Amino acid sequence: MRELRLPAPALRGGQANLVLAGFSATGKTSAGVLAAELLGMPFVDLDQLAERRLGSSLPEVFLTLGEKRFRELEAELLGEAARLSGTVIATGGGAVLHREFATLAGGAVAVVLTAPPEEIEERLGDPATRPLVASAPGPRIRELLAERALAYSAAGTAVDTTGKSIQEVAGLVADRYRAQANDKAQRVTVSGPHAEYPVLVGEGTLDRLDGLLRSQLPKAGRVVVVSDQAVTDSAGALVGETLRTAGREVLTAAVGRGEASKQIAAVTELWDRFQALAVDRGDVIVAVGGGAGLDAIGFAAATWARGIPWVTVPTTILAMVDASIGGKVAIDRGGAKNSVGAFHQPQAVVCDPSLLLTLPASLARDGLAEVVKSAVLASPLLLDALVQARPAGEGLPPHLGWLIEQTVRIKAAYVAADPEDLGLRQSLNLGHTYAHGLEAASDYLVPHGRAVAIGLVAAARLGVSLGLTEEDLPAQLRGALDRIGLLETLPSMDRARVRAALLLDKKWRRGEPAFVVPVRGGAALVSGIDLDFALEPFWELLAEASREDPELTAGPAQAPAGSGPAPR
Ligand SMILES: NC(=O)c1ccc[n+]([C@@H]2O[C@H](COP(=O)([O-])OP(=O)(O)OC[C@H]3O[C@@H](n4cnc5c(N)ncnc54)[C@H](O)[C@@H]3O)[C@@H](O)[C@H]2O)c1
Repeated sequence: MRELRLPAPALRGGQANLVLAGFSATGKTSAGVLAAELLGMPFVDLDQLAERRLGSSLPEVFLTLGEKRFRELEAELLGEAARLSGTVIATGGGAVLHREFATLAGGAVAVVLTAPPEEIEERLGDPATRPLVASAPGPRIRELLAERALAYSAAGTAVDTTGKSIQEVAGLVADRYRAQANDKAQRVTVSGPHAEYPVLVGEGTLDRLDGLLRSQLPKAGRVVVVSDQAVTDSAGALVGETLRTAGREVLTAAVGRGEASKQIAAVTELWDRFQALAVDRGDVIVAVGGGAGLDAIGFAAATWARGIPWVTVPTTILAMVDASIGGKVAIDRGGAKNSVGAFHQPQAVVCDPSLLLTLPASLARDGLAEVVKSAVLASPLLLDALVQARPAGEGLPPHLGWLIEQTVRIKAAYVAADPEDLGLRQSLNLGHTYAHGLEAASDYLVPHGRAVAIGLVAAARLGVSLGLTEEDLPAQLRGALDRIGLLETLPSMDRARVRAALLLDKKWRRGEPAFVVPVRGGAALVSGIDLDFALEPFWELLAEASREDPELTAGPAQAPAGSGPAPR
């Protein structure tokens, strides 16, 4: 077996975190929860996370594993928290003493809650529950406060909690955040050797489209809004109206719906329309649609007049977190997905979750599979949030904008690290080798997101059997995917047909099967392994299906000729 490690890149940009520090009983958790509600941000408590990871309460952890083990984990969690954005993060009382705290607080709004020692002692209640001060609460509190005084004063702006209710403290903390959070809010920059462009993420960002065009393309003339037909009257119309209101000359065009638009005939129609409108390189195309529409419109933009600048306004979750970032554009040909394409980086991307309201629930769930994939690769606390999330039901999950922002930051980091998709970006194929086999063998009846979900668990199980992946990851993943509703039913598939489809994938990799498996801190590309061994976890998973979905059941026919896998 050969193994190529693909470590997760550093993550940048997005909304600032709000970090709460301070001694025990200063109200970091309770004020943090309320401040998060006031700000509409998600909340994480690093002490609670440590308890979950270690499987027992902190007093027990201190007794059985010792303070050293807790501090090691605390440092690790601070590092993981620094990979989040737009999150309210409560840290433990001693967290400020770690080097990693400075990393977390850098770029964040950090607030230190304070209280005098006697009030802390009173609030602490039963000393037995606080192992660091249990022996002599009063003197120990004073001693620790003195030891940590410098670290607390350097950690952030102090908010005195003396005599204040939790609501009052939360209000003060939220105000502090509003006043200090920088104007980089909601902006992630994708940078590479040939291009650098902003991705705006968040409710209302569509209103900033015109300003974005002015800064990115100051000389742009007319705007051609090209939309997927499914959103022409909704998102497409809104984009046109926004730009007209800003005084722009707006022309319009449409491409088919979804995958049907990724055909040369649809692109030819767009070229015809561009010709009729005399579109040239002085104009700009604003593409509005899901991943398929963006692929087709982007391909037309890349090829018309040797490349017209374009901006994307994605309207599906998958398009926001994946297809709109990275500059890959393509159409399908001869039954093979994405076989004709180009690299054409957009000048800007606007991900406004309010455009997702018209999206059918099943499509929203599908897109969330990519969120889970990104979390596994590059953000353990995002994965934790997905594992802990309430079942999504039929609606969109809470904090959707946040989920999208985390995933955009991850995709942007991989694209920046490997703009031409020659190395590290292969990590993003996690789960996709299995998924492509499943999709192709079902004649694309199995939706992409559901196929990726199955592929992710299979890849994690393969990683465990190769000794590369943490043992509890497959179960965690199942939990997260179940909550989203992506594993509700598993398809019944003919193994020979799936195997045949996977073998087509093999050809794409020059004769050798290669699988991406998750490893701590990233992924590994493994090759030189027996295909049947690699397929074992996949068959196991399909066999475990408790219920079968007749709609997704594909018969034992041969794999369709030429239905090659999709190069991502
Ligand atoms: N270029 C890349 O880097 C990249 C990455 C991943 C996927 N892709 C491509 O993306 C495509 C899948 O994208 P997708 O999952 O967004 O599917 P999609 O674009 O096919 O959209 C799914 C369906 O939803 C409709 N739709 C889109 N937005 C809507 C909205 N807001 N409300 C209601 N309906 C809406 C579309 O018309 C379509 O019928 C595939 O073709 C895949 O190859 C490209």
